[in-house]
Amino acid sequence: MLAGSVTDARLNDVAAMPFSRSVQCSIPVGVSKIETDVLVIGTGIAGLSAALAASEHGRVLVVCKGELHDSNTRYAQGGIAVPTQDPRDIEAHIEDTLRVACGLADLDIVKYVIQRAPAAVEKLITRGMAFDREGGMLARTREGGHSRSRVLHARGDATGLELGATLAKHVHGTPNIHVIQFCMAEDLMTCDGRCTGAMVWLNDSERAVIRARTTIIATGGTGGIFLHTTNPLGATADGTVMALRAGAVLASMEFMQFHPTALHVGIEPMPLVSEALRGEGARLVDAGGRRFMSDYHSDGELAPRDVVSRAIVTELRRARGDCVFLDVRHWPTDFMSGRFPNVYKTCRGNGIDPAHQLVPVRPAAHYMIGGVRVDRHGRSSLDGLFACGEASCTGMHGANRLASNSLLEALVLAEVCGQAAAQEAMSEANPAPRFPDHGERSPARSSNSGPNAIAAWRRRIREASWEYVGMIRSGTGISAMQALIEDATVALSTTHPCRSLIELRNIITAAAMIAFAAAMRTESRGVHYREDHPQSNDAQLKQIELCLVDGHLTGNWSS
Ligand code: SIN
Repeated sequence: MLAGSVTDARLNDVAAMPFSRSVQCSIPVGVSKIETDVLVIGTGIAGLSAALAASEHGRVLVVCKGELHDSNTRYAQGGIAVPTQDPRDIEAHIEDTLRVACGLADLDIVKYVIQRAPAAVEKLITRGMAFDREGGMLARTREGGHSRSRVLHARGDATGLELGATLAKHVHGTPNIHVIQFCMAEDLMTCDGRCTGAMVWLNDSERAVIRARTTIIATGGTGGIFLHTTNPLGATADGTVMALRAGAVLASMEFMQFHPTALHVGIEPMPLVSEALRGEGARLVDAGGRRFMSDYHSDGELAPRDVVSRAIVTELRRARGDCVFLDVRHWPTDFMSGRFPNVYKTCRGNGIDPAHQLVPVRPAAHYMIGGVRVDRHGRSSLDGLFACGEASCTGMHGANRLASNSLLEALVLAEVCGQAAAQEAMSEANPAPRFPDHGERSPARSSNSGPNAIAAWRRRIREASWEYVGMIRSGTGISAMQALIEDATVALSTTHPCRSLIELRNIITAAAMIAFAAAMRTESRGVHYREDHPQSNDAQLKQIELCLVDGHLTGNWSS
C-alpha cells in the first residue's frame, strides 16, 4: 500500500510509542534568555557555511555541543567531489550521482548542486582553502562509483580538517557571528506553529532559551547510534530528532550508509580508511590474500559503496571472519605516508606497517542519507526551521550517496540555506519572537536512572541497531529492534534530562525512525537491504516521509 499512512499492525505498535513533544511557547522560570536573528545548531561544514552566509544579513548565534572543530567534517578524508567547468565533466558527475542513487535522487537538486560546484570551490579557495595540486592544477582522485577522477583533497587525507579550519577562521573573524561551545540543544521551541529557537544547556546545570527569528539545524549525522561507526560518538541525530519532535517532516531515514573500510583495530569510533586508497589502487583481499570484489561487480574495488560493504559482509559471513584487508604492499615505498599521512600514522600507531602488512578493515556506519526534509533553500515543513548538511534530506543522494558528494552538497546548499534563513529572519513580515513571561510547559521529569543505566541502554541500542537495522535487515530483525525501543522508552520515560540522557533519548528516537522506515520499505534499494525482500520494487520508488501525529510516529510515501 503506497498511499496514505501506514496501517500495518506491526508498524502501528511502533507508532503507538510515545514521543515527548518539543517545548511550546512558555519557558521555565529562572532560565537565561538569549536573543538572535539566526540560530545555527552545529559547526561542521554545513553549520559554518550557513553561519557565514547568514551573517551578511543579520546577527548569527552558533551553538555546538563540543568544541567548534569537533564535528564529522573534521574526519572527512577523501575529499570533495567537484567536476571541472567542462560541461561534459559536469554531465558525467550528474550521471554518476543519479546512477549510484538507485532511482531515488532528485534530479533538480543534483543538477543545481553539481552545476554550482566549481564556483563554490573557487570561493573556498579565495577563503584560503589549500587543496592539493599537481603541476599547479588541482589534484583530483577517484573513489567508488565515480567514472572519472574528480575528488579534490587537501594535505593528502586531511580534507575535512583543512576545510573546517578554513571556515572556522572566517567565522571567528566575523563580528556578526557569536559562537557558544559546549552548548547542548535539548529541544526546539515552537509557538503558533513556528519554530522560535531552542532550549539549550549552557553547561551541566544551566539552561537557556535562545529566541531566534529563524533556526538552522546543521547537527550532522547518526552514526553514533550504531555499534561500529566512523562518526564521532556524539553523532546522535540530535537535530533530526529535535525537528521531528517540533513537528517537521523527515525523509529517507531508512537509508543509512556504511563505509566499507574502517580500520579494524578495536578502536571506537573506528578510524576511516578512505575510499581514495582504493582509488589509488589499494586492493581488497580476504584473509587468504584473494581479491574478491570482481566476484560482485565489474568495477571491482571501485564499485559503489553499498555494493562493496555488502560484499565484505558476505565474505565475512562465509569465512566467519572479523575483517577483510586492504593490500597496498605493491605501492612504491613512501607513497602511502606522503599521499595518506593520517591513515598511515593511524596504522603505524596501531602496530601495522602497510608497506609490509595487510591493513585490517570492515564496514562501519558512516553517513545518514535521510534527515529533515528540506527544499533547495533548506526550508523545512515547519515555519522558521531550516536544515542543511547531513541532518537534512534534500534528495541529492537518493538511496545511496556517491562518495565525497556530502561535503559538496553541504558546501553549495548550506550557503543557500544560510542566506534564505537570514533573509526570512530580517523580513518585516517576521517580527522577533517574544520571550513569554513565565510558566513551564515542557514535560516535568523526575530522575530514576543513574549514569550506569543510561550507559547500559546506550550500549544495548547501539548493539541492536547494528544487528537489526544495520547493513542487512529483515522483518524479524526490525521487529526485534522495535520491541527493544519500546522497552527502552518505558524504562527511561521518567528520567531527569542531562546531556547523556538527551543523547540517549535522541538515539532511541533515531533508531525508532530507522526501524519504522525500514519496515515500510519492503524492497532492497541502495544502502537499504532486506534479505527477506532482496529485489527492488519500483512501486516503492518514492521517499518515505515521517512525522509525528498526536505524538505517534507516522509514515507516508511521498507523492
Ligand atoms: C572517504 O574518504 O572514503 C570518505 C568520503 C565520503 O564519505 O564521501
